[in-house]
Amino acid sequence: MVRWLWWFALLWEALGTTHAGNMWPSLIAKAKAGGLDVIDTYFDFSGRHDIVRFIKEVQAQGLYLCLRIGPFIEAEWNYGGLPVWLRDVQGIVFRSDNEPFKYHMGRFVTKLVNMMKSKRLYASQGGPIILSQIENEYGMVEKAFHENGPPYVRWAASFAVGLQTGVPWVMCKQDDAPDPVINACNGRRCGETFAGPNSPNKPAIWTENWTSLYQVYGEEPLTRSAEDIAFHTALFIARKGSYVNYYMYHGGTNFGRTTAAYIPTSYYDQAPLDEYGLIRQPKWGHLKELHAAIKLCLKPLLSGEQTTFPLGQLQQAYVFKGISEECAAFLVNNNSRVNATVFFENSSYELPPKSISILPDCKTEAFNTAKVSTQGGTRSIKLGQKFDLPNIWEEYKEAIPNFNETSLRENVLLEQTNTTKDTTDYLWYTFSFQHDSLDTGSILQVNSLGHVLYGFVNGNFVGSAHGSPSNRGFALEKNVSFNNGTNHVSLLSVMVGLPDSGAFLERRVAGLRRVRIQDKEDFKNFTNYPWGYQVGLLGENLQIYTEIGSSKVQWSKLGSSGNQPLTWYKTLFDAPAGEDPVALNLGSMGKGEAWVNGQSIGRYWVSFHTSNGSPSQTWYNLPRSFLKPTGNLLVLLEEENGNPVEVSVDTVSIANVHGNVARSHPTRPSDFMGGSKSN
Ligand SMILES: *[C@@H]1O[C@H](CO)[C@@H](O)[C@H](O)[C@H]1NC(C)=O
Ligand SMILES: *[C@@H]1O[C@H](CO)[C@@H](O)[C@H](O)[C@H]1NC(C)=O
Ligand SMILES: *[C@@H]1O[C@H](CO)[C@@H](O)[C@H](O)[C@H]1NC(C)=O
Ligand SMILES: *[C@@H]1O[C@H](CO)[C@@H](O)[C@H](O)[C@H]1NC(C)=O
Ligand SMILES: *[C@@H]1O[C@H](CO)[C@@H](O)[C@H](O)[C@H]1NC(C)=O
Ligand SMILES: *[C@@H]1O[C@H](CO)[C@@H](O)[C@H](O)[C@H]1NC(C)=O
Ligand SMILES: *[C@@H]1O[C@H](CO)[C@@H](O)[C@H](O)[C@H]1NC(C)=O
Ligand SMILES: *[C@@H]1O[C@H](CO)[C@@H](O)[C@H](O)[C@H]1NC(C)=O
Ligand SMILES: *[C@@H]1O[C@H](CO)[C@@H](O)[C@H](O)[C@H]1NC(C)=O
Repeated sequence: MVRWLWWFALLWEALGTTHAGNMWPSLIAKAKAGGLDVIDTYFDFSGRHDIVRFIKEVQAQGLYLCLRIGPFIEAEWNYGGLPVWLRDVQGIVFRSDNEPFKYHMGRFVTKLVNMMKSKRLYASQGGPIILSQIENEYGMVEKAFHENGPPYVRWAASFAVGLQTGVPWVMCKQDDAPDPVINACNGRRCGETFAGPNSPNKPAIWTENWTSLYQVYGEEPLTRSAEDIAFHTALFIARKGSYVNYYMYHGGTNFGRTTAAYIPTSYYDQAPLDEYGLIRQPKWGHLKELHAAIKLCLKPLLSGEQTTFPLGQLQQAYVFKGISEECAAFLVNNNSRVNATVFFENSSYELPPKSISILPDCKTEAFNTAKVSTQGGTRSIKLGQKFDLPNIWEEYKEAIPNFNETSLRENVLLEQTNTTKDTTDYLWYTFSFQHDSLDTGSILQVNSLGHVLYGFVNGNFVGSAHGSPSNRGFALEKNVSFNNGTNHVSLLSVMVGLPDSGAFLERRVAGLRRVRIQDKEDFKNFTNYPWGYQVGLLGENLQIYTEIGSSKVQWSKLGSSGNQPLTWYKTLFDAPAGEDPVALNLGSMGKGEAWVNGQSIGRYWVSFHTSNGSPSQTWYNLPRSFLKPTGNLLVLLEEENGNPVEVSVDTVSIANVHGNVARSHPTRPSDFMGGSKSN
């Protein structure tokens, strides 16, 4: 039997944390201090997402890397990481046995592998990459592709293996991953749910141990306790797991328009390193102690034989014994209500409910997953600069286009993504019609598969509606009064990211589907009717959030043009003193996007409340690397009626860090690399 060297890995979503690269060294150092050995990452090549530089930084700090190539990655990332142009390729069916898709996927994977090889980044070349992943959780959707699923899996595996990287490939949630590709588990309880490797010479790998769960608009963040994470990680190792990857160890920020549908800008803030890169206790410290305890068991784990036997009705021992007396034990109490006293090798041990004790020498308890000794360190946000003087703001009202001002015309309702190509969240649908009475009782009814809709009649706002993560279709139904004569109806359909999951992403439909006006007597159907379109907002097209662009329009004093939705606001501010991370408090705003010095720091949607009545996200990460000492340009695009006068620039810090942060158990993976495989 070959047992693999195991690693603790963290999934670092480099795509998500598109922090400027100067944040990488300290984030990687904190991961290493937390007892991790491997960084998992997705990637991108453009701008500040320099994958080669990131991997070299990981290597410089003595860590390893798992490269999750995909190219489909899901990851709550816009379109699951696939480029939007791919949907326009003739005859394409994503992620199936389809020649156009396989051609483009093959080209991408080859380009990336060649880039890594040319920089000598694979472990086989002396680099840090020890694993790479092809596809992502395909087993979840495979059935939808019928007979085109299995041949695609076989093709993807053999294509990847054929690239001869010299390091293994994994497929996660793919029980039938073809040899030699390793089937890996994703989930919260892989120690309990994973059926194991699908052939005896493969290691048990857990590619995503969910440290929390990503949040969607309208829902509270889901938290998972340090004890629960530690229990399942220890169990997975006890059951001969080789590699546990926390998803996420650091989630980061989805800057710009990079989130998938309905995903907030902040990503996995509940992870051991929070959105700002600060240590979240007790998660970080408890897992660090777990990692240290497991590393004390290395020799028997790597070269010993595992035996397992019951210690009680719901208690179990997993014991690893080497040839020369080394012994490590994992004592499991799976009773979630009571303490259990168990006898193991003539000693008694008290195991708290639902916990695992780790005995690196089969005698002394080095760690128990339910006993959290890490303390303190609560995050606090200090109010910095308030923008509460109306005269420091200027505003620019976005024009509401009428049909007669549009140039793109069709006699049907156009599909939104096909029309915008995802260059913008915004698509205006406009039409004009004659109304021959003064009847005030009309009802405007619009059905949409976009995410948000704002309705205007003759330039006046009449109402808005939005969908939700669980209910994507929605309707706007408003009583409106039309003029006797010509009327202009302008409907702004807004997307909050493209979908990232499920089969047939290329066929998803968004935007308006049906428009009717109901009078007392009858209704008019405008679904097939002369429509005029405007792609994007004027302010976006002029890039008025940049220094150059902002001079292209006439800004006016705050509040000078009434309370119309769709207003741009701008002001200047100085960076807060000190080194603490900076966050923009947008709690007084509604929905929109924010830019600092021309960089989008993401969409905000403060008005979409959770069931507790609070915003899904109030503070927005503003990396110091985006800031100058003085005169930073802040621009907000507000779709609703938010109040910029209450916005503030705050700083984030951890008060009172005590406990075990500084203590470390210095077992380095390089110390036992040589013993990584044994028969
Ligand atoms: C993964 O980590 C989460 C906490 O983040 C934990 O609750 C869960 O049990 C772990 N998953 C498994 C399979 O252990
Ligand atoms: C613990 O008990 C639960 C419920 O019976 C079961 O699903 C799970 O697999 C058990 N876990 C272990 C580690 O025995
Ligand atoms: C388990 O034992 C501890 C320490 O003896 C005690 O504080 C705790 O209340 C016990 N828990 C239960 C569920 O009995
Ligand atoms: C446990 O006790 C028995 C009887 O006293 C003894 O034979 C055995 O060697 C002991 N085992 C260990 C691991 O100490
Ligand atoms: C379009 O119609 C509006 C409202 O009647 C009018 O104010 C505007 O001047 C027209 N624009 C053009 C380009 O005809
Ligand atoms: C997308 O637009 C093109 C023309 O621009 C059209 O031929 C095609 O049918 C559209 N596809 C969808 C899915 O609407
Ligand atoms: C609507 O306008 C037309 C033309 O100006 C006029 O003849 C008609 O009386 C008006 N109808 C009502 C109900 O005011
Ligand atoms: C429209 O107005 C009527 C009464 O005039 C009212 O019964 C109805 O609820 C209103 N509909 C909407 C969508 O506001
Ligand atoms: C409106 O027109 C569209 C296109 O002709 C048609 O599919 C739809 O059924 C009509 N809706 C109603 C309520 O008549």
